[in-house]
This record gives sequence, C-alpha cells and structure tokens, in this order.
Amino acid sequence: MDRMVDLRSDTVTKPTPKMRSAMMSAEVGDDCYGEDATVNELERLAAEKVGKEAAVYVPTGTMGNTAAILSHTHPGDNIIVDIECHIYYYERGNMASLGGVMPVVMASDDGCPEPDKVEEYLQRDVTRFPRTGLVCLENTHNRRGGRTIPLERMKTIREVTAKYGRPVHLDGARIFNAAHALGVEAREIASYVDSVMFCLSKGLSAPVGSMIAGSAEFIQKARIARKRLGGAMRQAGVLAAAGIVALTEMTDRLVEDHQNAKILAEGLAQIEALELNPEKVETNIVIFDTKPLRLTAAEFGEKAIKRGVKVSLYGPTTVRLVTNKDVSREDTLYAVDVLVDLMKETLS
Ligand SMILES: Cc1ncc(COP(=O)(O)O)c(C=O)c1O
Repeated sequence: MDRMVDLRSDTVTKPTPKMRSAMMSAEVGDDCYGEDATVNELERLAAEKVGKEAAVYVPTGTMGNTAAILSHTHPGDNIIVDIECHIYYYERGNMASLGGVMPVVMASDDGCPEPDKVEEYLQRDVTRFPRTGLVCLENTHNRRGGRTIPLERMKTIREVTAKYGRPVHLDGARIFNAAHALGVEAREIASYVDSVMFCLSKGLSAPVGSMIAGSAEFIQKARIARKRLGGAMRQAGVLAAAGIVALTEMTDRLVEDHQNAKILAEGLAQIEALELNPEKVETNIVIFDTKPLRLTAAEFGEKAIKRGVKVSLYGPTTVRLVTNKDVSREDTLYAVDVLVDLMKETLS
C-alpha cells in the first residue's frame, strides 16, 4: 500500500520549502542577550497579529501556557479551567507542580466556564478562601472537537473577571483556526483576554515553537518564567525564521483544512449509527465514538492504518481526525472512502 493519510494531528505537518530556506539563511544572535534579530522580528510580528504590546517565543505550547500561569498567579491561588481543556487534561499538572496553583475545574457544553460560576469564585473573601488568580479559556477547543467559543461568551467572562481585577489567559494554540471560523481577526479574539498562547507548530506547519503575547509588563514576567522552565534559547533565529513564514504565509490556508474536515464529517455522517453531526464541525477537528461500530478506538485505529489512514486514539472509544496542510482534498476523499468502507464492513 503506497498511500498513508495522516489524520492524527495538525502537529504532524512538515515545514514548507520556504520555511527550510528561511531557516538556512536566518540572521541569528544570542537571544538571551536580546540579540537574535530573527527572534526579535518574530516576537514583534506575533504581538502585532494578536494586537498585544509584546510577545515572547517559547519552544512549546505547553511551556507557553505554564509560563503564562506562573506569571499571572501566586502559589496557593486557584485557577479556573474547563474540565476538558489542554492545560488541565494534558499538561501534567504543571500548574500545581511548578506554580503551586490549584485548578478549579468547571464543565460546560462549549468549553467556556459559566460566568456566574466564575464570579462565585472571584467574589470570595481571599482571607478565608484561596484567591482565584486566573481564568483560562481555550479557543478553538481541542477536546471539544475544534469548536470555537463565541466572542460574546469571551466578552462576558472578561467583564466578570475585570470587575475583580483578575486576568484571563487564552490557550489559543489554534487561534487562527478560531479566527477563520468566527469570521474575525485573531486580534479581536485576543482583545478579550490579558494573555494568549498560540502555536506555530500545528496547522501553521512550523517545525517548532509557540508564542505568548500580552502587555509589555506581563511579557517581561513571562521571559523570567520561561527561564525558570529552561526554555530561554540562544541562536533560536534558525527556528524563528520558520515561525515568521508560518505567521505571514500559512494562516489563510487553514480554511482548506476546515473545508476538508467538513468533507470528512459529511462523508462519515453517511453512517447513521455514528450520529456524527457535520454542522458541529467548525474547524479542522472531527471526533466520533466507535461504540456504535462495536469497536474500541484502538481496534478502529488498527483497521484504519492497515488501509492507509492514521487516526488519533482519543479515548477508549473515541477517535479524533485532524485535517492539516499535508492532507490534500484528494487524500481527504480517499480517507472518507476507506473509513466509510471500514465502518460498513464492521456493521454488516
Ligand atoms: C489546545 C492545545 N493547547 C496546547 C497544546 C500544547 O502544545 P505543545 O504540544 O506545543 O506543547 C496543544 C497541543 O496539542 C493543544 O492542542
């Protein structure tokens, strides 16, 4: 079998030829002395894209979120998070082990904590209860199938937190996907938060790196947190050069990934038992349950890979598909054929 369509994640994307040549010729210096011209340019550009005063380059999204949490909070604080958010679900308890911060975990349909519930925590007497130092949002929301949080919802959270002088951090790993789906610029989404982390290494296809953006004062703190986490780099311009290409050339094409995800969702929705609603697919992620197929996710994944499609095992009976630059429309149609055949066979 020649063809292998990799739908596990948008992190599997390879750098473009333009990225590779930009990396080759990047002007570099010691970034810890602020002397790497390419990193400086990436940070300027990143801040501009999300309408913030300043930005700092970090090796990963996880480090970006952790550095933001360390910069906003004090040990013993609470932070409010959605139960399915990446910070809580995947980031290895960094907030607790590195920041001494406890999560207050909230559940909601769209991944945005309920403002009333948030206010309940913010208004508590800090001499008797832990201080709630931060609210974290995720847009788009990975585990909720790449859904967007509507701007109205973000605005309400912002209004509530502002009343108590507490910040909001956005895990905007896929903020440019959210921007396309909401029909706004990324900076409009970021205008409802104090800090934002976004990834260059997912759909934007850079090999490495994420950005944290916020006020100049906050970014100064984030630089110190990055150092604490061991993430201050030297001639990082070699990597940042690809990040500049990601931000200048790769955001518009995310629309193609969204179109392909719709093709996948509409194709798979032919299998009624799956109860997959394509209208809920807003960006580049499709999630479905394999229970109706009487298969575990692992069994489904094994069958799919034998036929040339790689999927992500998201839970014991949950599979995630993520469209990305290295999966063309033709590949997507092929994946639909393969997966629909596989499902029909298991149901027959
Ligand atoms: C929503 C979200 N936030 C943060 C991250 C972390 O990024 P990284 O893998 O670069 O640490 C991811 C990665 O998949 C993600 O999906």
